[in-house]
Amino acid sequence: MKRVFSGVQPTGNIHLGNYLGALKQFPELQDEYECIYCIVDEHAITVPNDPKELKAHILDVASLYLAIGIDPKKSIIFVQSDVAAHAELAWILTCNAYTGELFRMTQFKSKSQNKESAPAGLLMYPVLMASDILLYDTDIVPVGADQKQHIELTRDLAIRVNNTVKEIFVVPEGRFMKEGARIMALDDPTQKMSKSAPNPLSRISLLDDEAQIKKAIMKATTDSEGIIKFDIENKPGVSNLLTIYSVLSGKSIETLENEYEGKGYGDFKKDLVEVTAAALAPIREKYNEIRNSDELIAILKDGAERANAIADKTMRRVRDTFGLGL
Ligand code: AQP
Repeated sequence: MKRVFSGVQPTGNIHLGNYLGALKQFPELQDEYECIYCIVDEHAITVPNDPKELKAHILDVASLYLAIGIDPKKSIIFVQSDVAAHAELAWILTCNAYTGELFRMTQFKSKSQNKESAPAGLLMYPVLMASDILLYDTDIVPVGADQKQHIELTRDLAIRVNNTVKEIFVVPEGRFMKEGARIMALDDPTQKMSKSAPNPLSRISLLDDEAQIKKAIMKATTDSEGIIKFDIENKPGVSNLLTIYSVLSGKSIETLENEYEGKGYGDFKKDLVEVTAAALAPIREKYNEIRNSDELIAILKDGAERANAIADKTMRRVRDTFGLGL
C-alpha cells in the first residue's frame, strides 16, 4: 500500500481554504492508502505563539481531523512534537540544504516581509516539512497549491541525498485538488484565504455557524457586472465563490453557470450560504462531541506510538548512512 502523509498547523481558525485545498482529501484517501495525518505543532512556533493557546489548538485540529471523517483505526493521527525524530531528521537535511534555495522560498519571503533579519525558524520551515514527509517514506502528500514549492524542495533534498550519499529516501509527489487547491480571501480575491489575515470576514472558519457564514459570504467581494461566470482574471471574486460552491455541492462550475444565468449575485450568494452551512454543520456537531472527550487523548497517544515505530526504522537507516552514533 502506498503511503500518504500530510499535516496542518495548530494555529487556530482552520478555514474553508485549508479544508477544500487539503483536509477534505484526507478521509477520502484512507481506504486506498496507508495515511498518516500530523498536527505540526513545531511548525507553529516559527511565529510567536501563546503556549496555552497552542496546546488548545493542537486538540482543536485533532478533533477536526476526526470530525471530517478520519478514522483513527485506519489512519495514524499524531502530534509532531511527540515524535522527536522530526527535529533530528530536519537537522540532517539542513546539512544537505543550501541557504540560497531556502531564501528563494516565496512563503519565507512573504512571512519575513523581506526584512534583513528574520526568525531563522521561518527560513528552516521547509526543511522541517521535508523531514516530516521523508521520515515516513511518504509516496503522496495532499496539500494546497501554496505548498507546491515546499514539495519541490522536499523532492530536491531527497534526490540530492539519494544521489550523493545513498539511496535512502522515497521521493514523494504532491497531490493537489483540481478545484479548491487555492481558495482566495473573501474580502480580497487576489490573496489566498489565510488563518492570519486580520479581517475575520476574509475567511469562513470550519466551525462557523450559519449566521457567521452568511455574514462573510454576503459581504464577499464580487464585481459590478452582475453575471455569474467563471473568469479568474476578470472576475476573481465570483470565480472563487463558484469554486467553493462547486466543490461543496458536487455540481460542476458549468452547471452552476447555467443554473444562475440571468440571476443576480444576491440569489447566488444566498444559495451558497445554504450549501456551505449544510456542509459544515455535521463537522461542527461531530467536533463538539469529540473536543473534550478522553478518547481524543488516547487516539493521539496511540498515533504517536505508531508514528514513532515507523520513524525509528527510518532513523536507524539515516543515522547509519551518515555515520552518526556508535
Ligand atoms: N487558501 C487556501 N486554499 C487552499 N489550500 C490552502 N491551505 C492553506 N491555505 C489554503 C492548505 O491547508 C493546509 C494546512 O495549512 P497549514 O496549517 O499548513 O497553514 P497555512 O498554509 O500556513 O495556512 P494559512 O491559512 O495560509 O495560514 P497563515 O495565515 O498562517 O499563512 C496546507 O496543505 C495548505 O496548503
